[in-house]
Amino acid sequence: MGSQSDGLWLGGFIRPRRLRETPRLRELVAETRIHRDQLIMPHFVVEDAAMAGPIAGLPGLSRMTIEDLVKQCESDLKLGIRAVLLFGLPQAKDESGAVAADPVGIVPQAVRMLKAAFGQDLLVITDVCQCAYLSHGHCGFPDATGHIVNDSSAASIARIALAHAQAGADIVAPSDMMDGRIGAIRMLLEDEDLSHVPIMSYAVKFASAYYGPFRDAAGSAPGFGDRRSYQLDPRNGRQGLIEAALDEAEGADILMVKPALAYLDVIAGVRARTDLPVAAYNVSGEYTMVHLLAREGFADPIQLAMEHLHAMSRAGASIFITYHARELLAAGAI
Ligand code: PBG
Ligand code: ZN
Repeated sequence: MGSQSDGLWLGGFIRPRRLRETPRLRELVAETRIHRDQLIMPHFVVEDAAMAGPIAGLPGLSRMTIEDLVKQCESDLKLGIRAVLLFGLPQAKDESGAVAADPVGIVPQAVRMLKAAFGQDLLVITDVCQCAYLSHGHCGFPDATGHIVNDSSAASIARIALAHAQAGADIVAPSDMMDGRIGAIRMLLEDEDLSHVPIMSYAVKFASAYYGPFRDAAGSAPGFGDRRSYQLDPRNGRQGLIEAALDEAEGADILMVKPALAYLDVIAGVRARTDLPVAAYNVSGEYTMVHLLAREGFADPIQLAMEHLHAMSRAGASIFITYHARELLAAGAI
């Protein structure tokens, strides 16, 4: 034994750095990789052209009319974005939220246009909720005391999912966190001969401060109170596992955890307990945080975003809903 290696003998000459020496070696042994087919790009679609334009809280992104959306998806498809998640912004909100389930409302119309333009080349997923349509901005219906009533809200949400599915949505994605809404949607889809439509459940959605830029983009901040009586308490990972198990039992096809970065333990827990695909929602605040850090010159946004996606992948997610999709593909990072 030479003197140089004396201190390494207890490790049996295990030198982990051997596999880090060159780019080719590092690629060979990489444990996680992200493929473009795992990405879902969210879009905000407006009914009123006056509401279109750049979103202050989401640098580089815009609210779009249906015509803009079709053009954007065409160029994004060339880049390799093959799945989108649509959020609809109606012309006006009201007390009933009925326009959310209108068969010719903003989301069904956008779905029809995208399916007509791209057919099976583009997977069109719709966010199913009523907060953007209700004047008070909650995901369900409040009673006189402000309590969000569960079962009538879930029934209403099922009708929104039905309208989206009838318009041709490839997947419906309920984001409201009412109890039993996956079962309600699944039963209604079965009754209406839409048993083939998958449900991607926002199964484990926390009451998070990371939704700030989204609420700015969608104008969906609650007008009174907050969402803590229906979204999960950030302190409770185990309750998240109960939510995931219930949604699977009720007929969900994909389970989502949201937000992603502060909840990697929950992603890992869900992954360990289900055989369904697990999706991670890399939410608005996580995206904007990256861009603010970059804007100040402290980090490269592409490297940060890839580090985040790889963390979600290590934790066990295989589907990534991310506002970074376009910039990552454009930069050749994926
Ligand atoms: C509303 C909804 C929210 C998001 C998706 N659907 C916000 C909320 O619950 O207040 C957040 C998305 C993001 O922050 O990127 N049902
Ligand atoms: Zn909502």
